[in-house]
Amino acid sequence: MQNPEDAVVAAQVGRDVAFGPENLGLGRDETWSRVDAALDAVGLDVAREHLTVALSGGEKQRLALAGQVALRPDVLLLDEPTSMLDAASAARVRDAVLSVAAGRTLVVVEHRLEPWLPHVDRVVVLGPGAVVVQDTDVAGFLAGPAPGGVWFPGLPDPEPVDVPEALVRPESSVEHALAEVSVVLRTRSLRGTQESRALDAVTLAARPGEVTALVGPSGSGKSTALGVLGGLVRPTSGTVTPDLGRARSRDLARVVGWVPQNPEHGFVTTRVADEVARTSERVGRTVDVDAVLDVLGLAHLREANPYRLSGGEQRRLALAAALAHRPGTVLLDEPTVGQDRATWAAVAGWVRAAAATGATTVLSTHDDLAPRDVEVRLERGRVVA
Ligand SMILES: Nc1ncnc2c1ncn2[C@@H]1O[C@H](COP(=O)(O)OP(=O)(O)OP(=O)(O)O)[C@@H](O)[C@H]1O
Ligand SMILES: [Mg+2]
Repeated sequence: MQNPEDAVVAAQVGRDVAFGPENLGLGRDETWSRVDAALDAVGLDVAREHLTVALSGGEKQRLALAGQVALRPDVLLLDEPTSMLDAASAARVRDAVLSVAAGRTLVVVEHRLEPWLPHVDRVVVLGPGAVVVQDTDVAGFLAGPAPGGVWFPGLPDPEPVDVPEALVRPESSVEHALAEVSVVLRTRSLRGTQESRALDAVTLAARPGEVTALVGPSGSGKSTALGVLGGLVRPTSGTVTPDLGRARSRDLARVVGWVPQNPEHGFVTTRVADEVARTSERVGRTVDVDAVLDVLGLAHLREANPYRLSGGEQRRLALAAALAHRPGTVLLDEPTVGQDRATWAAVAGWVRAAAATGATTVLSTHDDLAPRDVEVRLERGRVVA
């Protein structure tokens, strides 16, 4: 499924992957040998007992794939299976999928389709209104012309759109800094306790007017670092400036806009337009809801329920909802996931405009094209560059 969280069925990693083989009635030895082989194939290097709630976004994505790989199914249907993975992990996952799919039927839904093209026989392009606009072999697809919005190989990088200053300019903004910050994340459940050193003596600064990008492999601590900057994750040691950890929620919302890696985690209303207006109402700012929706390509969904949107639409709505009140600090967890060329340009444009008008802007990303002025590379919770 597009959202890997929707595929988690068990509290522990091993049991989660074993669910399919067990339901096929396979024996214990066969089941567990398939579990171990599948986890290895997708590169998820954790113990069978590891708690599934204590995984990062990209780790959950690989867990979901391991569950399917272990089934060795006749038909494999994958919805953006590598959207939250770095290039190396994505290549590994692709190899795992392709070895399982050999001689079988594989259908992949994908925006960034270039790495898949050498391995597929046929390309089907869907257009607005869910109509098939092209159904061809790869050579026919590559012969062009490029269908609108598609990440067609060889096109120049899309230009971020111009977003009106009035929609993004914050009243004020401040520098954020972490000094020697360590975070031990601890999750307790009936099945045990999971501890990870998610950040290890991290020192970094994010300045007003700049886009700071946090990059690094899945599980390296990017989401945790964003959470600490925004006062959402308490550091185990070290200094955070400004320290927002004890701010009242309304005061925090006024200054920080945060888009979680799982966009629907932030939804609090049942109508798209209400979702965009909610924070502004609570912190006493005016917002032009229709202008915001228009820039992000969501105007036609104004009356829809946020939970009924597609994955890419939900991510853009989460961005609108977090940023419509023009906070001085903008924290975005993988904002470009699930976007076509056109919607990518809108998201990138919003990020650029926020920084250009003075916001302190930090994003985590695996997308090489995502905007940035400064790049901070994390590995195993440490800043390596
Ligand atoms: N709730 C939790 N309890 C315990 N450990 C956790 C929890 N959430 C994440 N972790 C672990 O902390 C580490 C850092 O996780 P984080 O989510 O910050 O990584 P990330 O760089 O954002 O990864 P991704 O690219 O996959 O989103 C990982 O090893 C992860 O398994
Ligand atoms: Mg993350």
